[in-house]
Amino acid sequence: MGSSDSGNGGNREWWRGAVIYQIYPRSFMDSNGDGIGDLPGITANLDHVAALGVDAVWVSPFFRSPMKDFGYDVSDYRAVDPIFGTLADFDAMLARMHALGLKLIIDQVLSHTSDQHAWFVESRASRDNPKADWYVWADPKPDGTPPTNWLSVFGGSAWQWDSRRRQYYLHSFLSEQPDLNFHCPAVQDALLGEVRFWCERGVDGFRFDACNHQFHDALLRDNPPASVESQGEVSTVRADNPYAMQQHLYDKSQTENLAFLENLRRLLDGYGAVALGEVGDENAPPVMAQYTELGKRLHLAYSFSLLTAEHSAKHLRHQVEALDHALAPTGGWGCWAVSNHDVPRVATRWSDGGTTDTRRDRLWLALLLALRGSASIYQGEELGLPEAEVPFELLQDPYGRAFWPEFKGRDGCRTPMPWTADAPNGGFTTGRPWLPLYGPHLPLAVERQAADAGSMLAFSQALLAWRRTQPLLRTGGIAFFDAPEPVLWFERRDGNRSLHAIFNLGSAPVSMPLPVGLVPIAGQPLASTAGVQADGEKRMLVLAPYGVFFGEPAGEKQI
Ligand code: BGC
Repeated sequence: MGSSDSGNGGNREWWRGAVIYQIYPRSFMDSNGDGIGDLPGITANLDHVAALGVDAVWVSPFFRSPMKDFGYDVSDYRAVDPIFGTLADFDAMLARMHALGLKLIIDQVLSHTSDQHAWFVESRASRDNPKADWYVWADPKPDGTPPTNWLSVFGGSAWQWDSRRRQYYLHSFLSEQPDLNFHCPAVQDALLGEVRFWCERGVDGFRFDACNHQFHDALLRDNPPASVESQGEVSTVRADNPYAMQQHLYDKSQTENLAFLENLRRLLDGYGAVALGEVGDENAPPVMAQYTELGKRLHLAYSFSLLTAEHSAKHLRHQVEALDHALAPTGGWGCWAVSNHDVPRVATRWSDGGTTDTRRDRLWLALLLALRGSASIYQGEELGLPEAEVPFELLQDPYGRAFWPEFKGRDGCRTPMPWTADAPNGGFTTGRPWLPLYGPHLPLAVERQAADAGSMLAFSQALLAWRRTQPLLRTGGIAFFDAPEPVLWFERRDGNRSLHAIFNLGSAPVSMPLPVGLVPIAGQPLASTAGVQADGEKRMLVLAPYGVFFGEPAGEKQI
């Protein structure tokens, strides 16, 4: 059941409050036994996604790539990488999604290319070729050191020396991912042409990778060091990464990006396509607000704020309020996620170092789907998969190899999906998987959970189905109420109508006075975790460990 079943098929604002399922194609399903997931593997398993009841699918990059960053290093924007299939496979995948009522959002990595892209090969050949300024080239300082102090997200200087041009080039991520020079108009035009190619093929939207990295300071000024005051609320990297030691004033989030995003939006509007931009910034809310202002640029901006290790009620409230306050004046819109292909899976990350607990997995999903904004669910989150342990010898992620052993990289959230518990490699591949199937994932395989009415998968489906009956959860405003830790309590409101959501984030039961006049909303999937008891005159709300309560003023009926 996709968007058309939920009544949003013809709605141009379908993305507002939508639920997006993220597929990491290398690890979803391998159809040809080479150990790497592919597009036909996705197509063959879309029933699983449609049965969840999401609105859209975001597929991480499947374009031609040397795979140094597993597809986020694109060497041809218009080609499907042979390990993933062909353009015909892409068309078949898109047709199947549309037949199931699902929208397709593809990943576009415009900020940088692979160093194997023909544009970079030409650009690096000399200082005076036609594409000489398509990347960010700069002379060394007189002492031979890089032109600025800018750092790569993946560690070390963001500048790589090139002996042919005797210049440095900028790379915000790996040295094999040179940053395009957006100050060059021809670069902007070329990229819009690549986006148009996929619009013409019929995609419903784009996730723009690292889209606030698209411009750098043309004057190449050094970033100042981060101070306690200047440290943003949410660092986009771990504290053991020197990247966290700077205020990123000059290497990203430059105002010139606004005009580019407006041109991009004009192009997308011609096709009715939607833009979801990834905004990784230490002070992201104002940037997200600008990017999604009044429908002029992106439709929605993807937030890093809940991809943190910290997850107290106070912290979560603060993150959500900070974004909401920033977006309110511009009419902007956010997209929340608690898991993706870059961070440890939420079942482990927010488990306080303990064992996983399906009650808590349900709580996090219920919370994600109750926030104001759209929501992105990462493949396997609907199964409650924990983070996998990948030994150093099998590690693939260059980020993990660079920061081992303090940080083990991103492979632990990228291991293959378990489809069938008893099949070799969980039914993911008949070959040797590129990352090992994680043993503890096998009992959580899709086929097992689909046959169990009490499973996390059955819960995820029920939760999504119930959410569709609650329009306030899709587009209502949000306001928080004070509650003692570990309770998180907020209201979603539209005019006179309101819905209260109360979460016990702790492992002990909690009892609190039931807000006056509230009654439980019928049909809520976690009803058994919250009870109302009389205590003399008062009515008390009793939340089980990780309990969730959705209430509405008595007499109010959702339509
Ligand atoms: C993606 C990462 C990728 C990086 C560089 C992101 O934020 O989500 O997976 O490594 O951009 O493209």
